[in-house]
Amino acid sequence: MFNIEKIREDFPILKREVHGKPLVYFDNGATSQTPQIVIDAIVDYYSNYNANIHRGVHTLSQEATDKYEEARIKIQKHFNAKNSYEIILTAGTTHSINIVASGYASILKKGDEILVSALEHHSNIVPWQMLCEKVGAILKVIPMENDGSLNMETYHGLLNSQTKLVFCNHVSNALGTINPIKEIIDAAHKVGAKVLVDGAQACPHIKPDVQELDVDYYVASAHKMCGPTGVGLLYGKEELLNLLPPYQGGGEMIETVTFEKTTYAGLPHKFEAGTPNICGGIAFGVAIDYMNAIGFDEIAKQEEELLAYGTKELEKIEGLKIYGTSHKTSVISFNIEGVHPYDVGTILDKLGIAVRTGHHCAQPIMDYFCIPGTIRASFAFYNTKEEIDQLVNAVKKAQMMLV
Ligand SMILES: Cc1ncc(COP(=O)(O)O)c(C=O)c1O
Repeated sequence: MFNIEKIREDFPILKREVHGKPLVYFDNGATSQTPQIVIDAIVDYYSNYNANIHRGVHTLSQEATDKYEEARIKIQKHFNAKNSYEIILTAGTTHSINIVASGYASILKKGDEILVSALEHHSNIVPWQMLCEKVGAILKVIPMENDGSLNMETYHGLLNSQTKLVFCNHVSNALGTINPIKEIIDAAHKVGAKVLVDGAQACPHIKPDVQELDVDYYVASAHKMCGPTGVGLLYGKEELLNLLPPYQGGGEMIETVTFEKTTYAGLPHKFEAGTPNICGGIAFGVAIDYMNAIGFDEIAKQEEELLAYGTKELEKIEGLKIYGTSHKTSVISFNIEGVHPYDVGTILDKLGIAVRTGHHCAQPIMDYFCIPGTIRASFAFYNTKEEIDQLVNAVKKAQMMLV
């Protein structure tokens, strides 16, 4: 049974005040909050078995290695990857995308085409632009519609035998749009293109099955799914990861080193040079366990209710416009006529409400709507309708002060 009071008790930060008001945390799209069980795992690591992994024969090192590799298996199971070595533990979504983008510099040729959706976060645009500059490939954009969905007809028309890669987020961070990634993947495969899906905003809400999706690469960050910052994953099909050259050279990613020649380790170590975020990886596994114990069906139900309620209440405010109305997760991106989003965000903060304002690292979306940015309220399963009431009242107050 989903017990919201009990769940809120799991998050110590939800008890704090901001400017003398109880915190209402609606910036979950930027980062989610951390349950006590994850905080405890971090404290336990540094208190009891802090050691470097994969290297030592001593007990602490072996304990840390076992826990880190257990976390990899938890992540593998969560995403339903076929093999644990197809899960590369990275510093997060941005790092994961850069591993793939830099690897394709030795695979792509001049004139090859790359398709990227208009709904992307900058971290799924810039690395591909850098790649195109390097190899002379051509970047084409899958356009968006007014409701925040992708124009799929155009997508199908853009695909051709020159298309080598397609990049798309599973869920848009700026609008919350849930993209039809299965259709995108299947169509790309028909012309022989590979697909990377950015799951940073999907994974807090949806449990992706990488085998069912038949996706080639899937990336996400722990900190958006109740885990710590600085850790994430790159899932890749074994044969595709094997095609990519290493991203960084260093310790742990080698098999043998001489001054004449170095041979590389197999998966996943080939992409994990240096000492990783050991504690972060272990805590990521605990966060995944925590979310699964609540259940993604329950999470979706609670968030759908919050989205429906928040949309209904905010829409009642005259002069308030919501951006992105297609099938979406619990994100409401909006503006108040005649007011800069930053000013609204500042007033909301004074009232204890944390929202994100600005372009959300998705400037092309803001350009499409001809706006400098939006106010983004992104809800998590631990939020409540009462908190939404506080947001609505605070927005009305801000409107009265600013208009
Ligand atoms: C859709 C999307 N992609 C990528 C990122 C980048 O994630 P990170 O900063 O954890 O690397 C974000 C972060 O907001 C995001 O929302």
